[in-house]
Amino acid sequence: MTTRLSTWLAGAAVLACVAILLADYGLATWRAPRDDRLILTLQQQVKSDAALAAKLAAEQKRVTATRRARKSRDNAVAWLLIASAAAFLTLAKQLVKSAQPKIVGQAHWPARGSQPRSLVRQAFSTPPPIDLTFIDELVANHGPSKENAIVFLQAIQNHYRYLPDEAIRRLSELTGITPAQLAGTSSFYGQFRRTPTGKHTVRVCHGTACHVAGARQITDELRRYLAIPDGDDTDAARMFTIGEVACLGCCSLAPVLIVDGHTAGRLTPSSASAALAHVEETETV
Ligand code: FES
Repeated sequence: MTTRLSTWLAGAAVLACVAILLADYGLATWRAPRDDRLILTLQQQVKSDAALAAKLAAEQKRVTATRRARKSRDNAVAWLLIASAAAFLTLAKQLVKSAQPKIVGQAHWPARGSQPRSLVRQAFSTPPPIDLTFIDELVANHGPSKENAIVFLQAIQNHYRYLPDEAIRRLSELTGITPAQLAGTSSFYGQFRRTPTGKHTVRVCHGTACHVAGARQITDELRRYLAIPDGDDTDAARMFTIGEVACLGCCSLAPVLIVDGHTAGRLTPSSASAALAHVEETETV
């Protein structure tokens, strides 16, 4: 709020300085020829009437004093204009920066999205074995009651980020809830996933502004870059899961995506895939 007020004050000072300088310039342009004519007339009259010499001297003194005063005032106003313009630009920059959502990066991402990721990396895609001690502890804590089915499923989803088959089987063994019942419950609620998610979640905005600005091309390029097959949403290395969302509320940055909660805007297909490469590089540093 303070920055906003200071910006307004600096902007008002700039306008005031410009107005004073313009007014002074206009006034001087209007008065100068009149003063010059008056002095010239008096100089000629003094030749025939010496009594006018005092009046001539007084007029010359007035004109000189007026011009000096205007010059020193204009100098001061010009310095004030420079200072207030610099302050205005600095404050306005801060204001714009603070008004924008946090951006992972835009132009500084290297445009390296043209090549799909190395297949070598994808060779490490074999999922690690599921540690089922979490299921044992979960059932021990809540008791093997069939009424806790949704609580169990939610806890498993939160822990593994999806519902692994092995976890469902162990839960079934410990609670007596059949795998078919668990599958029926989990498929009824949209919050449950039966396939693994990537380590990083990418949400591409497909709201109207982003759609018009090329969201479809962004999604297509990311899927191509990560070699995600049709019908799937996660790459083979389980690094990224891609989804589409409605308007994220920062349409001026369209097209926009969010990686792990960080917003990136004004994307091109290459800068979007470079954003994911940036996430991977950051992780491996
Ligand atoms: S439409 Fe994408 S942020 Fe609004």
